[in-house]
Amino acid sequence: MSAVDERTAPAGDVLAQAARRRTFAVISHPDAGKSTLTEALALHARVIGQAGAVHGKAGRRGTVSDWMDMEKARGISITSAALQFEYGDAVINLLDTPGHSDFSEDTYRVLTAVDAAVMLIDAAKGLEAQTMKLFAVCRHRGIPVLTVVNKWDRPGKDALELMDEITERTGLTPTPLTWPVGIAGDFRGVLDRSDGSYRRFTRTAGGATIAPEETLSPDAALAREGDAWQQAVEEVELLAATGAEHEQSLFLDGVTTPVLFASAVSNFGVGALLDTLVGLAPAPTAAPTADGGRRELTEPFSAFVFKVQAGMDTAHRDRLAFIRICSGVFERGMVVTHGRTGRPFATKYAQQVFGRDRESVDVAYPGDVVGLVNAAALGVGDTLYAERPVAFPPLTTFAPEHFAVCRGRDTAKHKQFRKGIEQLDGEGVVQVLRSDRRGDQAPVLAVVGPMQFEVASHRMEHEFGAPVELERLPYSLAMRTDEASAPGVLAAARNAEVLRRSDGELLAVFPDKWGLRVLKENKPELTLEPMVAAQL
Ligand code: G4P
Repeated sequence: MSAVDERTAPAGDVLAQAARRRTFAVISHPDAGKSTLTEALALHARVIGQAGAVHGKAGRRGTVSDWMDMEKARGISITSAALQFEYGDAVINLLDTPGHSDFSEDTYRVLTAVDAAVMLIDAAKGLEAQTMKLFAVCRHRGIPVLTVVNKWDRPGKDALELMDEITERTGLTPTPLTWPVGIAGDFRGVLDRSDGSYRRFTRTAGGATIAPEETLSPDAALAREGDAWQQAVEEVELLAATGAEHEQSLFLDGVTTPVLFASAVSNFGVGALLDTLVGLAPAPTAAPTADGGRRELTEPFSAFVFKVQAGMDTAHRDRLAFIRICSGVFERGMVVTHGRTGRPFATKYAQQVFGRDRESVDVAYPGDVVGLVNAAALGVGDTLYAERPVAFPPLTTFAPEHFAVCRGRDTAKHKQFRKGIEQLDGEGVVQVLRSDRRGDQAPVLAVVGPMQFEVASHRMEHEFGAPVELERLPYSLAMRTDEASAPGVLAAARNAEVLRRSDGELLAVFPDKWGLRVLKENKPELTLEPMVAAQL
């Protein structure tokens, strides 16, 4: 991994530095090719000599990103990390997101730290369950989405049908920037709609190196590809007739989504994606603040923690807090203020982290992601700032849908137990709920997806040395309540329970919506507010 050398950059030139940044995440339904595309993007930026070095999924070389035993065993990527590289004059910050829907809360947090998203769609499968949820999250957060139809090298749906599916099911208007030449399964190249030229691809062995491209004129394209070219031209004419043209303001407002066709595994269309990100994706802008104002890019340093992770590597048993810089210049060693506690925080150990790779970061600008090492005091959603105080809007906590009592299996390990629970809570791996009735030794863990339980249990045992037993509770629904309503809820609802989350929020939990409905009808005076559903 090559660090971006900013030491020579004029430190005061925050605006120019921010304007170079493109901070985005690749998101998709599992198996659409997210890891493969991440590798291909890094390869194109010539960070990595050969594809296969980023994610170590089954059979691929080396691993940088999936560090956890569980991830290796399951072949899924649970953790996320950030990859920074230069591309031309631009600085690309690519944030990795977990693929599995059980970790949608983690994905959501990553999406609070990006300025754009790249949505990958499998050409054969079209829009899948997680694709739909992620489109909804991006809409909710106002994140512009670039869509990449992947796996065009394999038989799949018709390109125009896919555009219809996007229009009908997401409400976004697709505005293809490129159009495939050759049907899915016979990918020859793309017609570049900006100038009508043909970008012809050449396949390389296993897609391991950058696929060479040549640009041909329409006439040369027709001579070479015949009917396949002619069909692409006709389909592009149809697109033009339906007004599927890119307009920057509509893209930024989340009305349209530019579309590219690609084959990540063969590196087809990956260069075009990087060019499009640089050309169209927004650079960082002033961040909205909790009081409804904005933190301008040129104001003193500010950032928020969107992810905390411990034990990323058995060789470094430490706690990393990932911050997204919102304003000002970050310089390693600067002492900033931790918003939640008002205490000073020294940034002596600031790193760029991608999986196991770490490098010190000396200077960083708005849009950049920095991993702060041994940041035990920092929790997800916390703000850091220099000079003028600022608070960013709190991160959304999703409504948990699964609950389990967590007990230590070894009573001699109660210190480790307590430390582990506190750590997992601070990282946002699980929500930790307590009540006087259950006591401190038996907190209730609440999650959006059950796989979070597995992660918690695995980490309690292997990282904190405190094996636990999880006893599932029959609840599936949590509502926000308050002190005044709690006794009423407990008295009136059968099987309900009131628990306090570690941030002080009181949650009333119910087995199903029926019990809740009866309670609401009988006791309308009780405060019972819905939380944000993970499905949005
Ligand atoms: P994910 O991170 O979104 O879950 O997907 P991942 O990149 O792991 O890709 C899922 C599978 O799809 C992998 O195959 C990968 O090689 C394949 N794939 C990704 N992009 C393309 C593409 O453009 N064309 C084709 N034909 N296949 C693609 P696998 O067999 O599960 O794993 P592997 O043995 O190839 O690593």
